Amino acid sequence: MHLIHLSIRDFRNIAHAELASAKGVNLFWGANAQGKTNLLEAIYYLITGRSFRTRQDRETLPWDSPSDTVAIIRGLVKRPESQYEIVVAMNRTQKNVSCNGKTLFSLGLLWGKMNAVLFTPGDLEIVQGSPGARRRFLDMEGCQMDHNYLYHLQRYAQILRQRNALLKSSMDDTDMAESLEVWDEEMASPAAEIYLFRRKFIKELAAAAGQIYNGIADSSESLDLGYESFLGKNETSANREVVEALFKEIMRRSRSEDMYRGNTNAGPHRDDFRITIGGQDARIYGSQGQQRSAMIALRLAEINLMKAYTGLTPILLLDDIVSELDEKRRLHFLSLLDPNLQTFITGTDADTLRGALPVEKTFQICNGRIL
Ligand SMILES: Nc1ncnc2c1ncn2[C@@H]1O[C@H](COP(=O)(O)OP(=O)(O)OP(=O)(O)O)[C@@H](O)[C@H]1O
Ligand SMILES: [Mg+2]
Repeated sequence: MHLIHLSIRDFRNIAHAELASAKGVNLFWGANAQGKTNLLEAIYYLITGRSFRTRQDRETLPWDSPSDTVAIIRGLVKRPESQYEIVVAMNRTQKNVSCNGKTLFSLGLLWGKMNAVLFTPGDLEIVQGSPGARRRFLDMEGCQMDHNYLYHLQRYAQILRQRNALLKSSMDDTDMAESLEVWDEEMASPAAEIYLFRRKFIKELAAAAGQIYNGIADSSESLDLGYESFLGKNETSANREVVEALFKEIMRRSRSEDMYRGNTNAGPHRDDFRITIGGQDARIYGSQGQQRSAMIALRLAEINLMKAYTGLTPILLLDDIVSELDEKRRLHFLSLLDPNLQTFITGTDADTLRGALPVEKTFQICNGRIL
């Protein structure tokens, strides 16, 4: 599966751009602030319907454009048995995503048509940042790998919103406790599904990333991941009914605190996972180099898992990542990439990248245009 043609209109600093991409490695090169990352972001929109830089689609419209401007990103995708066109069109208030001319009424219908593994310098946030950054990582991967996961997440989020609205209402305590019991019953099923997916995924990711890490970091310390779920660190049950019952019990126990605070304090929306190197928490004790290597190992592991879960080879989007590594690690990292995967890589130094990767097509980017 690969993107064979991309066309963009009125997206960030790109007034108009077209390119026919190669099946293998495509390089976007140019000086800083020319539009290389904007091109990768446009490709990411075709795959997920979203940006990896902002939650506000309107930020991607050209700053000084008229208020009725529509950004249009169009991609022609080739799969072994078919070919289709995805179009993302956005103005300042709305977004429409279509496949072969038919509007997709939810982004869930877009996900899985193409998959991507994205490497950006911002990934370090996953190692260094708050639990929210790690949950976003888990959820973005989960949704691409398994459609059911997206469904359970959406269902859980919807009930959580209703539960929180109830907790903030002025209902008297006895009635509220009764209503909460009903919501908790409803929430238990998606909560258990989310837990079971995350637990399995983190375990598989840890196994794959652990092997890769030693090569990149050039060290014998082991990289490991530990799921810190709402059930506690040590819960090991893989039985759906058991997990549901434990969830309901936790909700029952935290009910009075929830009512006092007007918020839901326990559940998968508070989950996290710990990244350890040599047994120590990488967020607290890891050096910059160790944290970068850990992140790259996670992304490389993701490529393997993506293939295993979906049967499709993902497209790789690599934004400026190699400039983050020293030369030895850069070469090792690039040697681990499979040149048969369609790759879009950005950089300011074309020669270095061409020396280390079998680049098939090079596009020079200048002032929002492809030269
Ligand atoms: N909504 C927007 N409208 C117009 N221009 C924008 C918009 N958003 C970003 N830009 C501009 O687009 C330009 C290119 O940004 P981009 O992030 O793609 O640069 P880049 O080529 O990846 O540079 P670097 O090598 O520094 O990463 C920047 O000057 C940025 O300020
Ligand atoms: Mg950039």
